[in-house]
Amino acid sequence: MKIVSSRFEREAHRAEDEPEASGPYVVFLGRSNVGKSSLINRLLGVSNLARTSSTPGRTQSVNFYRINEALWFVDLPGYGFAKVPEEVRRSWRPMAQGFLERRHERIATAVLIVDARQGVTDLDLMMRDWLVASGTPFVAVATKADKLSGNGRAAAGRAVREALGPSPAGVEPLLVSAKTALGIRELWSHLDRSLEARAATKGKGRAWTSAS
Ligand code: GTP
Ligand code: MG
Repeated sequence: MKIVSSRFEREAHRAEDEPEASGPYVVFLGRSNVGKSSLINRLLGVSNLARTSSTPGRTQSVNFYRINEALWFVDLPGYGFAKVPEEVRRSWRPMAQGFLERRHERIATAVLIVDARQGVTDLDLMMRDWLVASGTPFVAVATKADKLSGNGRAAAGRAVREALGPSPAGVEPLLVSAKTALGIRELWSHLDRSLEARAATKGKGRAWTSAS
């Protein structure tokens, strides 16, 4: 997809804050500090639209980015980081899980992000199981792959593929890097296919290609 425009629309803490404009969602999910916001910036070809930080728990709301005035990138707060304050952890469930439960039918694809070096955690597996159970399409990506090279990178790719397996739609996990753009073209191919598939099954689906 050619990115003509991308802008931060708003952050939502409650359902009432979610933007009303139409369009499918691409949702970014993963542990705190795994690199969700960085991956969004890389996919959009911008340096700092989604705020990133080396401190876990930077994204503490559901953040909506409007792409080409037609679809949404949604940056969810990260889950499962011991160092974030208890209050932040407690708010994750109603906010992120609440969003997923209310809105999963509008998700063209979720991007389930794991750390290529740390591998797949129990929380990642729980998230995967939830995506499968709810029928939400997804692609898993192992990011920060630039931190590995050669055999280490290949082994990490195999480990993630083994731990998560393909999605129910047969999509295998990808190795990516927000730093070097490794795997970004493949990830965009997947996003494009998912958005096209969603438009095709919606019938009236081309509505979201307009600015409405
Ligand atoms: P929260 O919003 O706190 O949940 O974090 P996040 O998942 O949005 O992570 P963020 O994008 O803020 O990145 C966390 C840290 O990882 C930052 O210091 C980034 O620079 C670094 N980082 C993210 N992606 C990559 C990558 O592909 N390679 C490398 N080397 N570092 C990365
Ligand atoms: Mg973030």
